[in-house]
Amino acid sequence: MSHLQTRFKAIDQWLHQHKALWQFDSFACLTLPWLQAYPALASWLKAQQKVTPDDAKQLAEMVDLLPSLASGLAWQQPTLAVETVRQTFAQAPAYLSTGIKGRKWLQIDAFAARTPLVDHYTEWCAGKGHLGKYLAYQGNKQVISVEWQQSLCDAGQQKAQQLALKQSFDCVDVLKNTSVVSLESTQAVVALHACGDLHRVLLEQVSHHNIPHVCIAPCCYHLTQADTYHPLSMTAGQSRLTLRKADLKLAVKQVATAGAREQRLQRQELTYRLGFDLWQRHVRQTDQYLAVPSIQKGLLSQGFVGFCHWAAEQKQLTHLISQHPFEDFQHAAQSRYQELQKQQAISQLFRPALEYWLILDRAIYLQEQGYQVDIGAFCDVSLTPRNWMIRAEFKAGV
Ligand SMILES: C[S@@+](CC[C@H](N)C(=O)[O-])C[C@H]1O[C@@H](n2cnc3c(N)ncnc32)[C@H](O)[C@@H]1O
Repeated sequence: MSHLQTRFKAIDQWLHQHKALWQFDSFACLTLPWLQAYPALASWLKAQQKVTPDDAKQLAEMVDLLPSLASGLAWQQPTLAVETVRQTFAQAPAYLSTGIKGRKWLQIDAFAARTPLVDHYTEWCAGKGHLGKYLAYQGNKQVISVEWQQSLCDAGQQKAQQLALKQSFDCVDVLKNTSVVSLESTQAVVALHACGDLHRVLLEQVSHHNIPHVCIAPCCYHLTQADTYHPLSMTAGQSRLTLRKADLKLAVKQVATAGAREQRLQRQELTYRLGFDLWQRHVRQTDQYLAVPSIQKGLLSQGFVGFCHWAAEQKQLTHLISQHPFEDFQHAAQSRYQELQKQQAISQLFRPALEYWLILDRAIYLQEQGYQVDIGAFCDVSLTPRNWMIRAEFKAGV
């Protein structure tokens, strides 16, 4: 077994063992769904006024509620080494980064530094092809940037011409067109933040063409056609876990990074939704969650009752409004919000391991196709939370 497989098996087993703590539908449950399975953790949580995702990990370790939880969390994301040859290049000139936001440019710089030097690259789901420009610039290499939005291709092409770079664009829908021409002869394919199916189809094609080098930073695993996750590797295919879209979303769900105002609005909206849910369960005399469509944030200014009237209209429940006033559920909604925060704080503990599981599935799949694979962070998490990079080199006979 490769060390990636060993790692996968350990994480897989740990996630499976504790799946009650993260694999549930928090809106559907009025009480902690894992109350019975983890009584000590449940009563400890109950005693807390509130638990935020930020302090949950520390608290879980401190109170020693789940020794195996702490051991499952005890892994560190390695950092991928910079390609030695790139260290000899001078820093990219400022004009190359014109029009690119600071953090994005730093991501590109870090990603490129870990990309092998070859003569021909294909940049997958390229946007305006900023990464491709960087790679084309360093060492005057040829890059074909694949992207489906014509306007992005045109903007990218124009800039490449201005800078006299050997970069061209192939405007194609990679989900419909399974034979992207440049993949047939490219030496390295790079994909920075290609979502779900976009990097999945790439991985499938990579092995078909035996592309010598592959560098991928995946993101948004839940953006996929399939309702449940289809493992790529044979190793993950043996897992007892069945990941739903909600689980794939959890893998990339970040702890609040929004500004204070946005956080306040998010909290308000969630509380209103939870309150309406309590009302509808009561008047419909059913213990089932009822999904309410997304809202214009302006609606929140109408307060809890205004929101509930709107939601009742959306769900054709206005004839039940006279049965019970919405106001009676406002207080309970606050408590339910705190409960939900606690549940989510615990499920958040599993987020990094879930993402690692998904990265390992991709890495092991490439190993199974004859690649030698390295995985690790290509930049600090402060630059992007999606900082995993899979770097693979085809080795016949591996
Ligand atoms: C998250 S962005 C990443 C862009 C760029 N790689 C970066 O890091 O800035 C994903 C890109 O994939 C493109 N895309 C989405 N669906 C696509 C498809 N079916 N075929 C080709 N490109 C697609 C989008 O237009 C977008 O530019």
